[in-house]
Amino acid sequence: MDNIKNKSLLSILCEPGEHALAIDNPADGSVVGYIPWQSEAEIDQCINKSCLAQKLWQKRPAKERSCLMYRWYERVMDNQADLARLMTLEQGKPLAEAMGEVAYGASFIQWFAEEGKRAYGTTIPGHTGDRRLMTIKQPVGVAAAITPWNFPIAMITRKAAPALAAGCSFIVKPANQTPLCAYAILELARQAGMPEDVLQVVVHHSPEQVGDLFTHHPVIRKLSFTGSTRVGRRLIAQSAETIKNTSMELGGDAPFIVFDDADIVQAVQGALASKFRNAGQTCVCANRFYVHDAIYDQFVSQFTEAVKSLKVGSGLEDGVQIGPLIDVQAKERIFRTINLAVEQGATIVTGGKPLDGCFVEPTVLTDVQHSMSFLREELFGPVAPIMRFTNDEELLEQANDTIYGLAAYFYSRDISRIWQVAEALDYGMVGINEGIISTELAPFGGVKQSGFGREGGQEGLEAYLETKYLCFGGIQ
Ligand code: SIN
Repeated sequence: MDNIKNKSLLSILCEPGEHALAIDNPADGSVVGYIPWQSEAEIDQCINKSCLAQKLWQKRPAKERSCLMYRWYERVMDNQADLARLMTLEQGKPLAEAMGEVAYGASFIQWFAEEGKRAYGTTIPGHTGDRRLMTIKQPVGVAAAITPWNFPIAMITRKAAPALAAGCSFIVKPANQTPLCAYAILELARQAGMPEDVLQVVVHHSPEQVGDLFTHHPVIRKLSFTGSTRVGRRLIAQSAETIKNTSMELGGDAPFIVFDDADIVQAVQGALASKFRNAGQTCVCANRFYVHDAIYDQFVSQFTEAVKSLKVGSGLEDGVQIGPLIDVQAKERIFRTINLAVEQGATIVTGGKPLDGCFVEPTVLTDVQHSMSFLREELFGPVAPIMRFTNDEELLEQANDTIYGLAAYFYSRDISRIWQVAEALDYGMVGINEGIISTELAPFGGVKQSGFGREGGQEGLEAYLETKYLCFGGIQ
């Protein structure tokens, strides 16, 4: 923490105590710091304040909201190095990746600062001569969000920025593992002049209690969640009582397909980027690989060599590419999966050995069959199971054989095949000859049990807007 220059980013820190939450560093198990958590009554107060603030915020011209957001964006970028260090300390990802996430997170603020000025309505040709019809866009109201630990900044700004741009107030519960980044960007929003109560962060020792409060509170009109399908299911059910507008970005099970006409060097690079980003802890990480028989050996040998050269260690060390998993439970879970895979007949080509603390060696598994049960779940760790295929039709059936539908990837140079496969994959996002597809400019989201709603792009703003229809009568 001593290396964090802007001490105002740490203003939330408190002494250890009964109402203090300890934040652990997954690289060495030390405590990064303590922050206070709020009681349920305090969170309820925050929600009510958010409601009052929203009424004033939506009256501010879109251009004024945009200017404030732009100032926030600049402050985040001015503090990129400090925010990245804080992120590495509480989340574990390598510093270079954390720098990238700060810029990625800030890009949502910048994009929606612009996009908010374009919340256009429509005029509609009337159905009688004496009427004129139009639509206007209005903010949904108070928006709440529950965000995950794997992207401590970007998953907040991807929701907060469109909400604020649309004229909603916004209240977020970050993951209890990574609240420091949330409070740091909140502090920067305040310094940029964002009115108090328009943007708030709440933390409680029990995340479930906050979920209950958010879903049952009548004042909250929108709930956006990024996390597991299991928790998403519960939040959707709970939101039914107050008929909340919800957006759900849930689990993934991304297939990564390499056809026989692919550029293998490009495919290996894409596979590495997609699989090992954040040590495999993203919802869009490649979860299972399908490689055509004709190029299987070549792909596996080049990919394995590249995986062996990945440097594992504390995210603050120079050149580290794979940081720790978020906690010991995550590491134990990944080893249970590796052991199950081996029991079911998979071969470990590299990795697979436990390292100290929360670290896991990047692992490649071959002799994997689509029918193996360990493949049915999101791995969320640095493990790459590779399968062989010969027939495109069968391959597509297997690629779509999952309850999830977030992201899929494939490599091919045949334009007909590219269109056919892109259209046939039952996923919300498809990377074609590309392993990293996330950007503020495009709609991010899934189908099936990966959720609904889109974040980023034009669609991201729509998620926080209602369309109101106006009918003007008596026009002579
Ligand atoms: C996620 O893992 O949910 C987000 C990944 C991304 O934004 O690329």
